[in-house]
Amino acid sequence: MGKEAATRYPIHPLLQQRWSPRAFSDRIVEKEKLLALLEAARWAPSSFNAQPWVFIVATKDNRVDYERLLRCLVDGNIRWAQQAPLLMLSVAKLHFDHNGKPNRHAFHDVGLAAANLIIQASVLGLYVHQMAGFHLDRAREAFQIPDSAEPVAAMAVGYLGDPEQLAEELRDKESAPRTRKPLSDFVFSGTWKQPSPWLKDQAH
Ligand SMILES: Cc1cc2nc3c(=O)[nH]c(=O)nc-3n(C[C@H](O)[C@H](O)[C@H](O)COP(=O)(O)O)c2cc1C
Repeated sequence: MGKEAATRYPIHPLLQQRWSPRAFSDRIVEKEKLLALLEAARWAPSSFNAQPWVFIVATKDNRVDYERLLRCLVDGNIRWAQQAPLLMLSVAKLHFDHNGKPNRHAFHDVGLAAANLIIQASVLGLYVHQMAGFHLDRAREAFQIPDSAEPVAAMAVGYLGDPEQLAEELRDKESAPRTRKPLSDFVFSGTWKQPSPWLKDQAH
């Protein structure tokens, strides 16, 4: 489908082939695979090894739990995410357990755990589509998330489905090539916005 990243330099095929689909198959995610995803997240590095992540998990075989998480999503995401057999919500614990001080890297570390989870998903033939589009207040209420924690991102997880099952405008997105900014936009040396000299001869 042409979703593979057109990389300028070679990267690992698992990273190259990962993408965020909207068409999911209704095949369930096997329990061992779900556990492997969470185990991968567990072994992410974190500041002070604080592991400030929580994953709220809902599978379609528990309809009540699944609906509770699904209804936290914005309508535009519900449209396609409701096909996925597995939904998750990542949450950041904002203070260190060991001294109660604010953990400035909590979101960063939740992102690292999510990245581990996503790479493990790729290893297992699964796909993950993350979502900022969810109602924060609804999520807090639905899962009784305390003020000391902050919901970060929802995720739909499953096997690839048939894009034909999507509404037309989503189908187009499903087959669109993936794009990225060039390295020179975000790799600096010396001062802010000064592209590293060893990038200068790189065409965009
Ligand atoms: C934190 C985060 C929030 C996102 N929120 C949404 C969302 O609410 N809805 C959506 O359709 N995609 C969402 N995405 C998916 C991105 O649009 C997607 O990752 C990006 O376009 C790059 O595409 P790729 O993952 O296929 O490489 C989100 C991704 C991340 C990492």
